[in-house]
Amino acid sequence: MDKLTFIFLSILLCGSAVATRPRPRTTGRATLADDGGVCSAIVGVQNYPCHEHNVTTGDGYILSLQNIPFGQSGNAATGPRPPVLLHHGVLTDAVTWLLSPPEQSLALLLADNGFDVWLVNARGTKYSLGHTSLSSNDPAFWDWSWDELVAYDLPATFQYIYDQTSQKLHYVGHSMGTLIAFAGFSKGQLVDKLRSAAMLCPIAYIGHMTSPIATNVAQTLLNQTSYWLKIAEFNPTDEAVLQLLLQICKQKHINCLDLMTSYTGQNCCLNSSIISSFLKNEPQSTSTKNMIHFAQMAQDGMIKMYDYGDVKENVKHYGTPVPPSYNMTNIPNDVPLFLAYGGKDALSVSEDVKLLLDSLHEHEQDKLVVQYTENYAHADFIMGFNATQVVYDPLMAFLRLH
Ligand SMILES: *[C@@H]1O[C@H](CO)[C@@H](O)[C@H](O)[C@H]1NC(C)=O
Ligand SMILES: *[C@@H]1O[C@H](CO)[C@@H](O)[C@H](O)[C@H]1NC(C)=O
Ligand SMILES: *[C@@H]1O[C@H](CO)[C@@H](O)[C@H](O)[C@H]1NC(C)=O
Ligand SMILES: *[C@@H]1O[C@H](CO)[C@@H](O)[C@H](O)[C@H]1NC(C)=O
Ligand SMILES: *[C@@H]1O[C@H](CO)[C@@H](O)[C@H](O)[C@H]1NC(C)=O
Repeated sequence: MDKLTFIFLSILLCGSAVATRPRPRTTGRATLADDGGVCSAIVGVQNYPCHEHNVTTGDGYILSLQNIPFGQSGNAATGPRPPVLLHHGVLTDAVTWLLSPPEQSLALLLADNGFDVWLVNARGTKYSLGHTSLSSNDPAFWDWSWDELVAYDLPATFQYIYDQTSQKLHYVGHSMGTLIAFAGFSKGQLVDKLRSAAMLCPIAYIGHMTSPIATNVAQTLLNQTSYWLKIAEFNPTDEAVLQLLLQICKQKHINCLDLMTSYTGQNCCLNSSIISSFLKNEPQSTSTKNMIHFAQMAQDGMIKMYDYGDVKENVKHYGTPVPPSYNMTNIPNDVPLFLAYGGKDALSVSEDVKLLLDSLHEHEQDKLVVQYTENYAHADFIMGFNATQVVYDPLMAFLRLH
């Protein structure tokens, strides 16, 4: 068996691992999950109270939300428990917060430490395929990018939790989960219902991304935009995306024997068992339009709305020939922010985090905590075996201050 065949098989095997997870009525396209949702599907949550909720967005998407109101020690703590909303990154879902043992899983750790934990699943992921009028088999279902997560999903989710708890919330984002919050804050949204935000692997500027997989996927999507837009759903376990990866893996300098490293950077602290649990549940679909939006950001190093690549279309959507920018300097200076990033991260790289910090240079000093971990890469922040000591303990200390 030559190396390339082996690579292709490895990718297909990951795909079949994904296919064996509960995903009924599958035709290779996304379908509504009927395994009862994240609470009942995830073993790690069994000893925790966990309730399923749905949030309907202004444009009709039905997002799945899980609430873990308290931890294993019960609801003994007096006083209201501050709500915390966790938002995952692109191509993953809320399950990624729940893969580690309880003392290493941020969601369960927060529940055990007095927080009322809420996990949201972005539109297009396995548990958020519902819509008031569209089917996920309909290309129109996938006609959105992260602009819509900013405009609809986050405001609806914040409002829902606020209505349920009558309290302002803490926010924790990873990767794309940070971008949509930064973008919302920069437009003055969400902040009236926010206590503080912790941003893990901040994604804002991505012009310096070093991930060979991500930069090559970005280039291909931009070179062949009209072909890719016809594939409305970007499903990493589908033929089109596997072919794309296979093409990329033919390039000599890319090591696809270790796809995780080629995609996220060299993670220091993942156990092999966590990678196999991860592959049982992830990767998840997103829209191709969303991936193209990221590719545009990687190419021009700016944070703009989705570019239709056509003056007339841009004018139709935005009233301007060029898409409007999200301006990070407009993030209110008094929003308490905790930023954690890693020296080995190939997606949220130091140069780009520095650009973001430049935009925040007028931020109130005592409202901005920046933590750099030399040997951490993108996945260590959610699944690292010592992430509790490295990131979550300082993160929780920060939340408690606000
Ligand atoms: C959420 O909506 C889905 C359909 O999208 C439905 O199957 C499920 O029962 C709903 N769950 C709750 C808790 O309302
Ligand atoms: C994209 O197109 C450019 C210019 O035509 C070419 O140099 C580059 O190799 C292409 N990249 C990919 C990944 O197709
Ligand atoms: C993960 O690996 C580390 C280092 O090898 C080890 O100390 C730890 O017990 C492992 N944890 C789990 C949950 O397997
Ligand atoms: C953002 O706003 C600042 C201050 O208002 C301005 O100086 C800067 O040029 C803007 N940046 C972008 C990318 O629009
Ligand atoms: C986390 O684990 C890595 C790898 O074993 C180690 O190099 C690092 O020092 C650890 N960090 C902490 C704070 O324990």
